[in-house]
Amino acid sequence: MNLIKKILVAQTAVLALWAVSAQAATNDDIAERLKPVGEVCIQGEECAAAGPAAAAAGGGALSGEEVVGKFCNACHGTGLLDAPKVGDTAAWQARADEKGGLDVLLANAITGINAMPPKGTCASCSDDELMAAIKQMSGL
Ligand code: HEC
Repeated sequence: MNLIKKILVAQTAVLALWAVSAQAATNDDIAERLKPVGEVCIQGEECAAAGPAAAAAGGGALSGEEVVGKFCNACHGTGLLDAPKVGDTAAWQARADEKGGLDVLLANAITGINAMPPKGTCASCSDDELMAAIKQMSGL
């Protein structure tokens, strides 16, 4: 009788431990599932989400080539919606001359202009990354 009791106690303890560890795993899972899918970054402020993401993407800022490949090529690759094409330096030069330089084009790219969406859809891009992309596309 005593032995049976001991076995029962031991089994209950194992069961309790298992339940606790199972619960811990479940809480982690729930926290993971409840995580927001995205975080809003406010222009001009340090973006908590962009830091680790950008760092994970290769230790810091994206190169102009990477930004163009990921975000700008969709329109600028083919000239969709009359976007100045990648490599068409003359078209980019004409825009820069007409508007007052690459800095003005950058400012327009940040706010968006006509069919060109703000930041060219790269919401997490810094001004430097966007400028690198513009230089990459224009060859200027
Ligand atoms: C959804 C399509 C689209 C995407 C994506 C896009 N662009 Fe554009 N972009 C345009 C269009 C269309 C124009 C021409 C706007 C106009 O002058 O009417 C343009 C124009 C520009 C200009 C010239 C602005 C000016 O003042 O003349 C710059 C600079 C620019 N884009 C940068 C970028 C960068 C950098 C990216 C990627 C981060 C990007 N674009 C992604 C459509 C796009």
